[in-house]
Amino acid sequence: MTESPAPPHAGDAEALRERALAALLTARRRTALLTGCVDDHELTAQHSPLMSPLVWDLAHIGNQEELWLLRGVAGREAMRPEIDGLYDAFEHPRATRPSLPLLAPDEARSYASEVRGRALDVLESAPLGDGPALVRSGFAFGMIAQHEQQHDETMLITHQLRSGPAALTAPEPPRPADDAPALPTEVLVPGGPFTMGTSAEPWALDNERPAHRRDVPGFVLDTAPVTCGAYRAFIEDGGYRERRWWAPAGWAMVREHDLAAPLFWHREAGQWLRRRFGVTEPVPDDEPVVHVSWYEADAYARWAGRRLPTEAEWEKAARHDPVSGRSRRYPWGDEDPTPDRANLGQRHLRPAPAGAYPAGRAPCGAGQLIGDVWEWTASDFLPYPGFTPFPYREYSEVFFGPEHKVLRGGSFAVDAVACRGTFRNWDLPVRRQIFAGFRTARDL
Ligand code: AVJ
Ligand code: FE
Repeated sequence: MTESPAPPHAGDAEALRERALAALLTARRRTALLTGCVDDHELTAQHSPLMSPLVWDLAHIGNQEELWLLRGVAGREAMRPEIDGLYDAFEHPRATRPSLPLLAPDEARSYASEVRGRALDVLESAPLGDGPALVRSGFAFGMIAQHEQQHDETMLITHQLRSGPAALTAPEPPRPADDAPALPTEVLVPGGPFTMGTSAEPWALDNERPAHRRDVPGFVLDTAPVTCGAYRAFIEDGGYRERRWWAPAGWAMVREHDLAAPLFWHREAGQWLRRRFGVTEPVPDDEPVVHVSWYEADAYARWAGRRLPTEAEWEKAARHDPVSGRSRRYPWGDEDPTPDRANLGQRHLRPAPAGAYPAGRAPCGAGQLIGDVWEWTASDFLPYPGFTPFPYREYSEVFFGPEHKVLRGGSFAVDAVACRGTFRNWDLPVRRQIFAGFRTARDL
């Protein structure tokens, strides 16, 4: 009962240096795209009280990089100590950030790029092999690339919330082949222990550690995430009007905000339409539903006579290889994600239809576990046995508890560097603007 051995790059300082450099450059290209496709007014505007102005994310990305790579790894002095407080996420709630004396767009850009130039110098000579824990295996560089990508996803959410014409475009995701055999709607995951979490993945974040044994009784899981078409049946059956499907706090949310459909959907002349990155289009029946809260996912599952999977069930379906008895890095094995295995990295601006990515399927037969939509699970965000906060309590530890629910698998907006079978995301059960959908499960 183990996980796959550490990936080959994990023990090779030069391979890790290459990966860190590539990950930092990829993240910065995406940041430049997200902050370069709108004008300065839109960069400083508040598009939603739920989100920061884009220019805050930009300078915060630079500030965290300065904090961890320049001050943390290299022991440098603060470049602009007076701005640290502005970009501390705990000092100022998102809704108040537009009124702070933030760096202007051109200042934020030059600050972030100055930090980056110095960080790349640090990377060139950092002792990635056997240095202190922060640099060992290039962790701090991997963490900072993941941090930037997480804010890139946050900025993409801001783009989705902004009104006005489209600023972003991307090619359509792949569809399942026309001659692909119809998939069973659900798959069996046999009972038995498996290894959850990781102690082998060099850039796994603190909440994914350590690897530990979990017993998971047999269960049945949806082959694909719940589609818009299936979700529409719940709506049309009066799902939002029947208290019996809802957790009490979910029902209160439905009543208070008069909810009747996922965020960004509306009905016009008898047809469901949705707004997606500045374009209004018919809701596609075969695509995983996105922009539903945990409460909506939970209510749908109850209506369907099913339930949300726990995160242990989700991870076992995604990682457990019944042949070797090991937990692997991804559903398809130990190799990194590729464009034919998963819809990641904002390569497309929507989830792919259910049944796409046959090369990404897990041994149990479930598909699209990685990429497409974040998947709500039944589980509260809690530490694994043996958890130690690293390198700072405010990444995970302060969020542990029953008020946050765990999401797994990543969305089309998550970069591969911040996505793996062990990766844990969390949010409040009322959140709808994130790129979250779900799949359902049932007991055997
Ligand atoms: C892990 C996505 C919940 O965006 O709030 C970014 C990631 N932490 N900066 C968030 C994070 C610090 C975090 N989530
Ligand atoms: Fe952050």
